[in-house]
Amino acid sequence: MLIALTGTPGTGKTSVCEVLREHSNYRKLYSIIDVNRLILDEKLFTGKDEVRDTYEADIDKLRERMKQEIEKKSGDVIMEGHLCHLLPADAVIVLRAHPVALRKRLGKRKNYSFQKVKENADAEALDVILVEAAQRNKSVFEINTTNMNIIAVVKSVISVIEDLKLGKTPEEFLPGKINWIEQVTKD
Ligand SMILES: Nc1ncnc2c1ncn2[C@@H]1O[C@H](COP(=O)(O)OP(=O)(O)OP(=O)(O)O)[C@@H](O)[C@H]1O
Ligand SMILES: [Mg+2]
Repeated sequence: MLIALTGTPGTGKTSVCEVLREHSNYRKLYSIIDVNRLILDEKLFTGKDEVRDTYEADIDKLRERMKQEIEKKSGDVIMEGHLCHLLPADAVIVLRAHPVALRKRLGKRKNYSFQKVKENADAEALDVILVEAAQRNKSVFEINTTNMNIIAVVKSVISVIEDLKLGKTPEEFLPGKINWIEQVTKD
């Protein structure tokens, strides 16, 4: 099974994959591809937006390159990165975090300007990645990581994947339960 693990920057994708890589039981089950690393290492971008301080990935080139990477792997493959929902996958898991929590997490990044933190928190509030994923894939799930530690998030990710492999729908993680806008305007 090919899984896209996506979400706004700071929602914990890399942290989850670090745990999966560290534990030998998980390592045997899942192969992980760090999509951002591949984009940067192989310069799979069309340019850099200096104002927004982001690279513009060349999705067509990335798609072709990923095909080769995936062929090399065995077992279940997890693609990790905030763009991987733009690639073909059997299912997409979107990690979510309350925009206020996200601001705190991203605020600790030395290379993130105030503007960049705000831009990402706003994108999370507006469900941007979830909507992009749902436009491209029928099998989309979301995990609210706001009050979960990394191990709990890892267990949720695995439970989604294992349910899908058994042909079951992971009902708990179906999209539609998270509504940041309502909460943000209430706060
Ligand atoms: N569930 C969580 N609870 C609290 N802090 C978390 C949680 N998940 C991640 N963090 C923290 O948030 C920060 C960002 O996490 P991480 O780098 O894993 O995000 P990411 O989704 O990979 O972001 P990016 O798309 O920019 O690579 C880290 O400092 C991490 O320790
Ligand atoms: Mg990351």
